[in-house]
Amino acid sequence: MSADPRAVESLLGFWVEAGVEALYAEAPVNRTAPAAAPLAATATAKGLSPAPAARADTVPAALKAEDLQESQSAAADAPDLPALEAAIADFDGCALKSAGARQAVFARGAPDAPVMIIGEAPGGEEDIQGSPFVGRAGQLLDKMLSAAGLDGRAFITNTVFWRPPGNRTPTPAEQAACAPFLERAIALVKPKVLLLVGGASAKAMLKRPEGILALRGRWFEWRSGDGALELPALPTLHPAFLLRQPAAKKKSWEDLLTLVERLDRPGRPD
Ligand code: URA
Repeated sequence: MSADPRAVESLLGFWVEAGVEALYAEAPVNRTAPAAAPLAATATAKGLSPAPAARADTVPAALKAEDLQESQSAAADAPDLPALEAAIADFDGCALKSAGARQAVFARGAPDAPVMIIGEAPGGEEDIQGSPFVGRAGQLLDKMLSAAGLDGRAFITNTVFWRPPGNRTPTPAEQAACAPFLERAIALVKPKVLLLVGGASAKAMLKRPEGILALRGRWFEWRSGDGALELPALPTLHPAFLLRQPAAKKKSWEDLLTLVERLDRPGRPD
């Protein structure tokens, strides 16, 4: 019996809306190999238990000390944002780079912006276009920034620079590998405040155990790894969450107003 194409399209649309844009098999398939007896059947015939399937897309390699050293020295050597972007594209020490991402996604926005927005990770559309927050969530973010009078006043990036497979949350090891580049971007842009968008960003930047609903709307002090930089940081809800829960937009709007109020306060924002 063949499936109704409209039902298939509707089901796929449902999954895409839910953020599921990639389908993975349990193990890699070599489609060029000559047909052979299934491995599990061969193993069973030999009286062996079949090996468990590898989940290559969900088992990130832990961060190696030499990869961290490399990102630290490449970031420190970047004199400006274009050099930093090139250094990120050259860096092989983040496991996400070889996990299916098309390209590195660094940043967009004003290079001297007073607000730096730090999201979680590039998604499918960002991976295609090579720019952060350009999909549906990014369009909502742009509308909100514009309504809050922040057009042209934000520099937008993420905690990691490659799309995680299946849009999963980046691991702490992946975020740690990218952190020296992110910190260098903060040092070069010199924003007055950070807006941490979503739980994965807030957790990585503030190293706090609470969830985003407990953190959002409160000011924290962000410090760079070497303690040289300190900035006020405001966690807020992720626009992808707002697309699923429109009733939460009110909270995000309050957070943006909190941010603008501090930014435009006379004197230092901190
Ligand atoms: N979500 C993020 O956190 N970052 C992007 O760039 C896009 C979607």
